[in-house]
Amino acid sequence: MGTGKDSVDGAGRRAFLATACGVGAGLMLASKTASAVALATNETRATPKTPEPRGDEEPSTRGTLRSLEVSAIGLGCMNMVRSNPPFLSREDALFLIRDAYEHGITFFDSAQVYGEGQSESFLGEAIKPFRDNVIVATKFGYTPRDSRPQHIRETVEQSLVRLKTDHIDLLYQHRVDPQVPIEDVAGAVQDLIAQGKVREFGLSEAGQGTIRRAHAVCPVAAVQNEYSFWDRFAEVEVLGTCKELGIGLVPWSPVGKGFFSGDIHPATFFHPQDNRRSHPRFSAEAIRANRGIVEVLFDLGLTKKATPNQIALAWLLHREEFIVPIPGSKNPLHVRENAGAMAVHLSAEEIAELNDKFSAYPISGARGSKQSEALRDDGARFGTRTQEGKGMSPWPSRH
Ligand SMILES: NC(=O)c1ccc[n+]([C@@H]2O[C@H](COP(=O)([O-])OP(=O)(O)OC[C@H]3O[C@@H](n4cnc5c(N)ncnc54)[C@H](OP(=O)(O)O)[C@@H]3O)[C@@H](O)[C@H]2O)c1
Repeated sequence: MGTGKDSVDGAGRRAFLATACGVGAGLMLASKTASAVALATNETRATPKTPEPRGDEEPSTRGTLRSLEVSAIGLGCMNMVRSNPPFLSREDALFLIRDAYEHGITFFDSAQVYGEGQSESFLGEAIKPFRDNVIVATKFGYTPRDSRPQHIRETVEQSLVRLKTDHIDLLYQHRVDPQVPIEDVAGAVQDLIAQGKVREFGLSEAGQGTIRRAHAVCPVAAVQNEYSFWDRFAEVEVLGTCKELGIGLVPWSPVGKGFFSGDIHPATFFHPQDNRRSHPRFSAEAIRANRGIVEVLFDLGLTKKATPNQIALAWLLHREEFIVPIPGSKNPLHVRENAGAMAVHLSAEEIAELNDKFSAYPISGARGSKQSEALRDDGARFGTRTQEGKGMSPWPSRH
């Protein structure tokens, strides 16, 4: 397949994409940089244990997370109040969420910790006119990392108030708590489900040991771990576990924290409070070295009339039908662009081409800070923490 790589220069590419996608803003792809050099850590390069991706099947615009029917792409509601300042005003956040809904998004991802409840408050207010038509997900237990049942019960009551609803559709544990057996966490959520306050249970950044233990107590509807074109760690154990157990996989950071857009350059200035400052993968050296990954997405996008972000999202959608990515954005045009990925069809050959190019490409820099990586349950070094199928969670005392 031709890539169009040689025939379209930087300026031509911009014009082409602005026309083809109708999302001119934010598509400022830089001219090509040299392909990657050295510095490879390969930390996130997993050997896929799962079958080859589908392809040649039209991706559905709908996803299913156990009993929950969602749009195949959701909206991450973190960025408007956390991680990527400057943050949105209430009015802009309401507009963003409602505009996303108008463009087919019915799955909204929040957390108690996002803006210390502000994300939940904005989301609750925005969706009030159409609450029954959307699926609301939120999470407990990040800061403080406290998953004691009493704490879960108390904070869920607070979430319900902020979300202005009588039930949370999908309630995740945000990070595995090394002090509280996952069985106790699952039991607490099970009680909330029985009371009608929660519909489904989810885990975030969990490894297979924890997922299996939780699922045995209360069926898990979704696991929300980082997973994207350049971060394949979920393929080591979590993707296969989800498939086996009928659990949805909700990839966070599915557009590479903004990197796949091509807008990020070695000289990009990140706001002093932007989380990416602490991520080795967003050092100037890593950005330079990883630039070719955007080229891979961009080149296929040229032939598909799609942006690199859309290709990256479509790649996830074609991977498995139970994958529902939640790109985050503060920009309505970007949200529309991302929603447009639901209409991008990739053939088996195109997916193979993407995977081949990725396999040949060394990714530089760890995905997150040492501090945030330490909270992962799925093993920073390929499963070490899930030895004996236990994960980071302690065994219950009765074990
Ligand atoms: N469970 C967890 O532990 C966890 C951790 C992190 C995030 N999350 C969830 O996952 C969501 C997404 O993750 P993320 O924000 O880390 O990563 P992401 O979705 O991969 O990337 C977000 C970044 O990409 C940019 N972006 C998005 N779409 C774009 C487009 N079409 N064109 C240009 N730039 C675009 C955004 O900037 P603009 O605002 O300018 O569009 C933002 O800076 C969050 O909102 C949150 O709900 C969960």
